[in-house]
Amino acid sequence: MWFKNLREDIKAAKINDPAARNSFEIWLTYSGVHALSWHRVAYFFHKKLRMKLIARIISQLARFFTGVEIHPAAWIEGGVFIDHGSGVVIGETAEVHKGTVIYQGVTLGGTGKERGKRHPTVMEDVTLSAGAKVLGGFTVGKGAKIGAGAVVLKEVPEYATVVGVPGRIVRIRKPDDAEKTHSGVIAVTALNAEIAVEELERKEEEAKALAREAEEKRSGKKKTEKKVEETEKKDENL
Ligand SMILES: CC(C)(COP(=O)(O)OP(=O)(O)OC[C@H]1O[C@@H](n2cnc3c(N)ncnc32)[C@H](O)[C@@H]1OP(=O)(O)O)[C@@H](O)C(=O)NCCC(=O)NCCS
Repeated sequence: MWFKNLREDIKAAKINDPAARNSFEIWLTYSGVHALSWHRVAYFFHKKLRMKLIARIISQLARFFTGVEIHPAAWIEGGVFIDHGSGVVIGETAEVHKGTVIYQGVTLGGTGKERGKRHPTVMEDVTLSAGAKVLGGFTVGKGAKIGAGAVVLKEVPEYATVVGVPGRIVRIRKPDDAEKTHSGVIAVTALNAEIAVEELERKEEEAKALAREAEEKRSGKKKTEKKVEETEKKDENL
């Protein structure tokens, strides 16, 4: 299970980070991937062995090395990507589903007023941008995007974009518009192929326009040469 989750995490890093080169490099150098692997060990000690102090120590060690603090009891599915790592805090009753991307400085926390389930549940394929604070025991719907620096205090519908302080919904996309889904690599590939074809078509149009321009210039030059010849002939006749 631990290895399966690690594989999923590495895959998520590959999908979501254009700078990612290969699985080995990700495994070796990505602090977000390390944080999740450490967390899964801490979670095992906390939930299965009920050795909460050891779990807490592991979690603090992971925080020291990665800058990511995850409570050992938080539930995180394989295939989540924490980019850059630093300053991410994930609370005890938080749940994070696969395909979610978490940037630096994100907090999945409580408001300090609730007991029990007091941290958010983040569904699949959510983007939590840099510095976003999601506070409370509500659900962030599948495919939602939380803007950089937003403070979210209420339930977020599926595929909604929330920005600002306090967070407000600025748009709700159609599910098919989701540009990036962990489960939909094929969709991303298709989208990229479409973009590549569009780019090729645009380049072709540009090349044709340049050729036309060159042709026009050439014919303009010929006309001028003809005129000069005619004028010279006229001059000779005079
Ligand atoms: C929210 C975000 C993901 C874009 O989502 P989106 O659904 O494509 O939204 P749009 O870009 O269409 O923006 C919708 C509106 O919200 C505004 N908006 C976008 N991000 C915002 C933000 N972080 N704070 C405030 N307003 C923001 C836009 O200006 C736009 O307003 P308008 O409709 O008046 O023009 C993106 O803006 C963002 O915050 N990205 C940060 C990613 C990140 O953390 N990168 C760090 C890498 S190290």
